[in-house]
Amino acid sequence: MAFPFDPFRIGPHQISNGLVMAPLHEITDQPFRKFIREIGGPGLVVSEMISSEALIRHARKAEQMMATTGEHPFAMQLNGGNPQSLAEGARLCEAAGADMVDLNMGCPASNVTKGGAGSALLRDLRLAESCVSAMVKAVNVPVTVKMRAGWDASQKERGEFLDFLKMFDAVGVKSLAIHPRTRAQGYDGHADWAIIARAVEAGTSYPIIGNGDVVEPVDAFRMKEETGCAAVMIGRGALYNPFIFRQILEPELAVTATMRIDATLRFFGILLELLEPREALHKIKKIGGWFTKGIPGGNHFRQNLHACNDAQVLIDILEDLRAQQAA
Ligand SMILES: Cc1cc2nc3c(=O)[nH]c(=O)nc-3n(C[C@H](O)[C@H](O)[C@H](O)COP(=O)(O)O)c2cc1C
Repeated sequence: MAFPFDPFRIGPHQISNGLVMAPLHEITDQPFRKFIREIGGPGLVVSEMISSEALIRHARKAEQMMATTGEHPFAMQLNGGNPQSLAEGARLCEAAGADMVDLNMGCPASNVTKGGAGSALLRDLRLAESCVSAMVKAVNVPVTVKMRAGWDASQKERGEFLDFLKMFDAVGVKSLAIHPRTRAQGYDGHADWAIIARAVEAGTSYPIIGNGDVVEPVDAFRMKEETGCAAVMIGRGALYNPFIFRQILEPELAVTATMRIDATLRFFGILLELLEPREALHKIKKIGGWFTKGIPGGNHFRQNLHACNDAQVLIDILEDLRAQQAA
């Protein structure tokens, strides 16, 4: 059988394998992307969503989200519901070095949907068309989309996502990632991979990237086989196990507790390199605990992690944890 994660294309870009790190708000920032690329595996990495409205106001936080140090290929994701703002936001992303600009049509958070952005665009095909089309006209890099299966169960059952797929073809979208939960589901229930299979069967001119509930390497193989998608996008599974992409590519790779502790130390090192110490500590508290789930002494480490306010103390705690594994 051919290896299922072969390279695929998004517009002019050859993506080295069919594995994509999902955009995760407040997680897939510059330090996390550097970390996950260093660990290895994903052919494509996407920024966290960046508000187009905040970008055109030159809000500092939004501008910082565009920071990149020559990572390629790299997609920046925008959220917004206004075609002019999205066009301007896309231009800013292109100027900041994005190889492609993605439109978020999936975020379920009410502070995003109440402004007509994220998954709210799934309720208005014409507005969604104006938004994507304005972005396509504004930039030379490919425009891509990430969407949910619909706003709610009834919209999903009517198969309205297929109308969106046709519209994306007509306006020149270059890839589509589908997280097949509805907005109403939030993160409950399961991702309905049959929707991804239906999207693939629809025969779009652009590749379909499947997403949702890939937690173990075996799930990625199963998603490929059950849906025929061009690539698999992984979000939360890569937080539990940042080695998941490599394990898919190198099935014999055994991930030890020591490797996970070293990865946590390396992630903290990158945070300290790129952020102020206070921010680095805040981030490691938010994300670092995920990497040590299930390892001996991991619970105790996470309690210490949350109480710790000194970078060197945290490094010492991690080194002790590593020494315990060897003992
Ligand atoms: C903490 C968190 C933040 C997320 N942020 C974004 C985001 O900024 N943009 C986006 O398109 N999706 C976002 N998502 C959705 C994920 O990209 C992905 O579609 C979803 O988690 C399902 O994939 P998974 O089961 O592999 O995690 C987020 C999900 C989580 C859990």
